[in-house]
Amino acid sequence: MVFKKLLAALQPEQRTAAAAVEFPLETEALINRLHDSAPLDEHLRILFDGVTVGGENYVDLYRRCLTGTGTPVTPFNVFHRFQSRRDLLQYFFATLDLPGARAECGTYRGATALLLAHAWRSRQPAFAGDGLFLIDSFVGTSASGEHDLIPVRNDDGTARREAFFPVAKADISPELVRSYFREFPGVNICAGWIPPVLNTLPESAWAFVHLDVTLYEPTLAALEHFFPRLTPGGVIICDGSIFCPGAKKAWDEFCTRRNLPFIVLGNRESILIKQPSVAAKR
Ligand SMILES: C[S@@+](CC[C@H](N)C(=O)[O-])C[C@H]1O[C@@H](n2cnc3c(N)ncnc32)[C@H](O)[C@@H]1O
Repeated sequence: MVFKKLLAALQPEQRTAAAAVEFPLETEALINRLHDSAPLDEHLRILFDGVTVGGENYVDLYRRCLTGTGTPVTPFNVFHRFQSRRDLLQYFFATLDLPGARAECGTYRGATALLLAHAWRSRQPAFAGDGLFLIDSFVGTSASGEHDLIPVRNDDGTARREAFFPVAKADISPELVRSYFREFPGVNICAGWIPPVLNTLPESAWAFVHLDVTLYEPTLAALEHFFPRLTPGGVIICDGSIFCPGAKKAWDEFCTRRNLPFIVLGNRESILIKQPSVAAKR
């Protein structure tokens, strides 16, 4: 009975026209309840059977990165995490021979950056972190703007729009995150708010950039900073989520303005590969 109700709520065609707006908090609660009683580990094993990084099963490796950094995973986001990071790895490996540095904007506790570091070392055993840049305020998210608000249902069924991410509320610090990268002492930890922290980065070329800053303003600023400096053939991937409409809007606006082709994958990641022909345009 509970499952029937949950499934009905997830079927778009069974919603009334008035309820066609997606309420992300409700979707999250539904999926949390749906996934809560499912054998999630078994699903992960099946989904990533035979996927290895440097001889280690991908699920084991990423789980090690998540638990080692104390990064919470919920029944709602578990498949988003494991599937989107697997995609991320494919692009990371595909660009590993390109000249330029690699960056993650929005590092949080460093779980995904640590996965990238292990992946890098699996192909280049001498890799000790140099050339990998972790960029974050390390105090949490900046203020949401108009584009970042998500719909929330009122008791009377009407909707209001609210910020989802509290400002500067993260329980992290650059020192804490560095301690998770003991095996990679050369990693560059760049602490500060985006946009201004971007001006402190070396004026290098970039081969791979992962954007995961959740909001419109820092996503747009990071695109404006990194795209002109991206090596031809280089990749920018922007994480997507029902909680991050602003990040998606920033990406769409940036790419539309420059007429840049990109793809969107099943976990809402937007991905572009810099084409040699646009490399000269900056
Ligand atoms: C979703 S978390 C990143 C998760 C991480 N990539 C992972 O896979 O575990 C978003 C991060 O963006 C950072 N962030 C948000 N707005 C920012 C801004 N304007 N400047 C710098 N960092 C920001 C937050 O501090 C937070 O750590």
